[in-house]
Amino acid sequence: MNQHARLDERPIPFIDVAAQRRRLGGAIDEAIARVLAHCQFIHGPEVRALEAELAAFCGARHVIACSSGTDALLLALMAWAIGAGDAVICPTFTFCATAEMVALLGATPVLADVDAQTFNLEPESLQRAVATAKRLGLRPRAVIPVDLFGLPADHDAIAAVAAEHGLLVLDDAAQAFGASYRGKKLGALATAATTSFFPAKPLGCYGDGGAVFTDDDALAVRLRSLRVHGEGPDKYDAARIGITGRLDSIQAAVLLEKLKIFPEEIAARNRTAARYADGLAGVATVPRVGNEQTSVWAQYTIRLAPGRRDALAAALKAQGIPTAVYYRKPLHRQEAYCRFPLADGGAPVSERLAEEVISLPMHAYLEPQLQDRIIAAIRCALGA
Ligand SMILES: Cc1ncc(COP(=O)(O)O)c(C=O)c1O
Repeated sequence: MNQHARLDERPIPFIDVAAQRRRLGGAIDEAIARVLAHCQFIHGPEVRALEAELAAFCGARHVIACSSGTDALLLALMAWAIGAGDAVICPTFTFCATAEMVALLGATPVLADVDAQTFNLEPESLQRAVATAKRLGLRPRAVIPVDLFGLPADHDAIAAVAAEHGLLVLDDAAQAFGASYRGKKLGALATAATTSFFPAKPLGCYGDGGAVFTDDDALAVRLRSLRVHGEGPDKYDAARIGITGRLDSIQAAVLLEKLKIFPEEIAARNRTAARYADGLAGVATVPRVGNEQTSVWAQYTIRLAPGRRDALAAALKAQGIPTAVYYRKPLHRQEAYCRFPLADGGAPVSERLAEEVISLPMHAYLEPQLQDRIIAAIRCALGA
């Protein structure tokens, strides 16, 4: 490994969108050219084709492609008429978009703690969050589990708590489309699920994009309407208040090409994760994936003893190796979200993770030789 470190000093991208572009360039150029030729830029045939391909890929009955992962959450919450007086339980250790749309609709995100191994919503904290919501006079309506860093949440345990309290389950799979839980792909698990096609996501387009997945026919009809200004059966019937939430045909064309190689890319990400796990065993807490789950490794996130992270990041940066911290502050510590209730019992795990986590370069095109350079640099910086 030290030999590689001397031989190869190229800067390493954190996520290499350009490598995938080199692989797929011609096919994507042609797909975009087809849209430029037919000029149906909004909701053209590529959007319908993409929805059908995504449904076949994950097993959901309906796929509603839309403008972003955030709008996907918004559409689902609007379709359920979530609003003032409603509580929606969200993990506090997540990207803000999860709770943002709840707050935007005037409902109250109630923030719950996560599990230390999986970083995902902890079912007992979910139970406590429901009690907290009731104590505050709110109606617990829904829960948004997040499949953080590409790993599915504990969906069966969450579904059991949701059933006990009559909660709708909206799976925020923005980081995890392509992953599976007990033999089912995300998208086909919860009452509804959402994902993001932001370029850095495991399946990303060349701009903003997202999708909602559901098996509920009536919900799908409302989602399709809400996506286009709440349109009714006739285009200029305004049946409800909606948004401009469409995915454009060029992004759908890009995604159709990328979907063809997505399974291969997931396999490559898993090989990269396995190499990190071997190389870093004993020097950091590496993520573990349960037997009944698969991850798409949106991030490869390790944990270090408190106080060691910033020195490691600086040592790696000096060698051209980027890192990132997701998330330095849980939502209940963020200026915009600290006014929302935290589940009884607090969020001690999220607080600790915010001090300990650091994410390493991860993508489907990370060459083993470069990865060994990263592993060697980490081991050296940590004195292993
Ligand atoms: C967990 C989570 N939810 C929602 C989103 C929002 O997705 P988008 O950026 O496509 O709006 C993201 C994006 O990073 C995310 O990580």
